[in-house]
Amino acid sequence: MTNNKKQSPDRYALVGHPVEHSRSPLIHTVFARQTGQRLTYELIDAEPAAFETAVRGFGAAGGKGLNVTVPHKEAAFALCGERSEAATAAGAVNTISIAEGGALRGDNTDGIGFIRDVTVNLRQSLAGTRIVVLGAGGAARGIIAPLLQEKPAELTIANRTKERADDVAANFAGTILTARTFAELDGQAPFDVVINATSAGLKGEAPPFPASLVGPSSFCYDLVYASGDTPFVAWAKAHGAARAAQGWGMLVEQAAESFAIWRGVRPDTKALLKQIPR
Ligand code: ATR
Repeated sequence: MTNNKKQSPDRYALVGHPVEHSRSPLIHTVFARQTGQRLTYELIDAEPAAFETAVRGFGAAGGKGLNVTVPHKEAAFALCGERSEAATAAGAVNTISIAEGGALRGDNTDGIGFIRDVTVNLRQSLAGTRIVVLGAGGAARGIIAPLLQEKPAELTIANRTKERADDVAANFAGTILTARTFAELDGQAPFDVVINATSAGLKGEAPPFPASLVGPSSFCYDLVYASGDTPFVAWAKAHGAARAAQGWGMLVEQAAESFAIWRGVRPDTKALLKQIPR
């Protein structure tokens, strides 16, 4: 007997707090159309106390996968029974695959999405360069292992609160990663690559970084995205950086990697990358 009942599309969602301004539904809808996949992509706003219930509930309702954003990436890591190497290196999960029966597998595509945007889309090589990562929160921690894999000559993590940078460096003991305060970098030679992983400047205050970080051949990158220049990108341009890009491409590329994990087909990111010129 054939089953003529048309199957409903597979369900995916982003879970975070807040999520209402996310562009992930748009991105995944474009990818689904392009690759001929039938799926829906929803937004789930869950406060930390409601995170686990939201994930389990989505799985119980037939959901196939979740993207996870602030502030739940570490909680998602703890919740997943199985984790990829990238997730383990970051201690955080941004992509959950839900098996029949509800078992959760966690992956992290932020690092690969970031490296792809910088090295492929923006054609900035990282091997042999002097790199500084500003910030020592979850976003900064997640890009350290992928950056080390690119074999820079120097990798520095700088943070307002020195202890947090020291903690990250301790997790990467035996590598070239060194921890500094912003003040300790003042007056040093400009870096080749300056990456902003802080939320400084987002409330309208001037980013508190020494101007000497940036020189006429510096490439600056903000993990945050916006439809125009982010405060960090504006700061980098004002201080004479050769190039300064915001993180729209990272968002698109991490989404493409998540899509590939879930659906087994990698979408082409070119059309979406053009939506916000950089
Ligand atoms: P995320 O998970 O997005 O990285 P987080 O863990 O809250 O978020 O980390 C925020 C980062 O931005 C931290 O590095 C924080 O510095 P502190 O560790 O000193 O708090 C940094 N940050 C936030 N506001 C800042 C500001 N006004 N000036 C400098 N750094 C700031």
